Amino acid sequence: MNLISMNMVTLLYLVASVCFIQALKGLSSPSSARAGNAFGMTGMAIAVVTTIALIFKLQAEFAERSGGGMGFTLVLLGVVVGGAIGAYAAKKVEMTKMPELVAAMHSLIGLAAVCIAIAAVSEPWAFNIAERGGALPFGNRLELFLGTFVGAVTFSGSVIAFGKLSGKYKFRLFQGAPVRFGGQHILNLVLAIAIVALGVVFCFSDAVEPAWTPFVIMALLSFVLGVLIIIPIGGADMPVVVSMLNSYSGWAAAGIGFSLNNSMLIIAGSLVGSSGAILSYIMCKAMNRSFFNVILGGFGGEASSDAGAGAQEQRPVKSGSAEDAAFILQNAESVIIVPGYGLAVARAQHSVKELVDKLTEHGVTVRYAIHPVAGRMPGHMNVLLAEAEVPYDQVAEMEDINGEFGQTDVVLVLGANDVVNPAAKDPKSPIAGMPILEAYKAKSIIVNKRSMASGYAGLDNDLFYQPNTMMVFGDAKKVIESMVKAVE
Ligand code: TAP
Repeated sequence: MNLISMNMVTLLYLVASVCFIQALKGLSSPSSARAGNAFGMTGMAIAVVTTIALIFKLQAEFAERSGGGMGFTLVLLGVVVGGAIGAYAAKKVEMTKMPELVAAMHSLIGLAAVCIAIAAVSEPWAFNIAERGGALPFGNRLELFLGTFVGAVTFSGSVIAFGKLSGKYKFRLFQGAPVRFGGQHILNLVLAIAIVALGVVFCFSDAVEPAWTPFVIMALLSFVLGVLIIIPIGGADMPVVVSMLNSYSGWAAAGIGFSLNNSMLIIAGSLVGSSGAILSYIMCKAMNRSFFNVILGGFGGEASSDAGAGAQEQRPVKSGSAEDAAFILQNAESVIIVPGYGLAVARAQHSVKELVDKLTEHGVTVRYAIHPVAGRMPGHMNVLLAEAEVPYDQVAEMEDINGEFGQTDVVLVLGANDVVNPAAKDPKSPIAGMPILEAYKAKSIIVNKRSMASGYAGLDNDLFYQPNTMMVFGDAKKVIESMVKAVE
């Protein structure tokens, strides 16, 4: 049965591609992000339905040619089971656990690329890339080599990133602290050269029987390289890793799109790959890291990982109640709020909005300062504040507001830690060079968190010990609600 013509498939893929481009455009600003998401979902729905219809058509043609086969049933089963697991995971996941989910999804894309490549090398005629009994053409061998290499690195790298981001596994490689050893970079280089050499052998062997030995060794070494690239990365540098793996997963999908001759996969994979690469570049700039060091793994490695890490010093801190904080805030002329991961954990965004509305009624000028890696995913704080319908003109990005801290009466730090840690100015610190929100320059600082515990990077924070800092201990939601009540 001819359910769909190839012209129709091409047209629908084109429509889906335009939707994806519109989605990326929409996601570039909080005000158009919803429309961007709608475009993305529409594009993906068109792409999936078209691909299912295409598989049905190819399956029917294949059955006519060679009789039988149950490929289509398996595909439908995969869509139902995979779709159900994905929908359940997406519904259940908490906002703060999104980076782990994203890392897990990236690993699956990498694994899918490797599996498809193995299938295509083993039975190229089933993918229409070689005659039955004929050898794989050189171009396809090259695509399959690249797709397998990038897919395998993406898979194992994402598994390690998943473990590091979730932070609940005892396995050493899954822990936030970097794993470094002598000669690590040399080992990575040797592995990369060996992979390229094996790839060359695989690509240039034009026998009918595929060169399985170099192919399999190359795939195994790529899995090892993926692990080695991610293990030396720790703490505050993980956001860059997530966006880098996002980019790798896109390129892996695009590579396999060439092998399958599927234009949709090539376009969608390239969009993910290039937008992920641009995001990685922007984040590297924001974190003051070298883009090439990130791509090659093991960046930020020169700083001592012990500097300022771990245990909190027994230094005195000044603490006060939510009522004291409310008094200081309502008597200020200008206030900057720094939201962080703890605000998301406490789900206190609506209470903050209420507090800001009350302070504004009192004539206080309030703005929010957003650090590019505050929280646990890119744009986390923007999403949180948008949920509470905070007006966009009250929200300022780091580079726009950093010059204003010195002239600000009060900075209110809510569940943020690393993004305001002046240790970044210390060349020996693991977060050396990372730009921070310069809250320490304000006339008064109020910090709300539950204890003196460190943030994601595991570092003590001098800001908390400054003479002009007042700590208000407690869950952000409860503390802010008490502040709202106390503002007269
Ligand atoms: P963190 O440095 O992680 O600090 C968050 C602070 O919130 C903690 O010190 C914690 O202290 C406090 N907290 C937790 N629950 C709280 C609650 N219910 N109420 C009040 N406070 C609470 O957060 P940050 O300043 O936003 O920095 C983000 C860090 O995560 C950076 O190191 C960044 O590199 C990393 N990271 C970011 C991303 C992305 S893409 N944004 C992805 C992965 C990692 P207490 O336990 O004492 O309360």
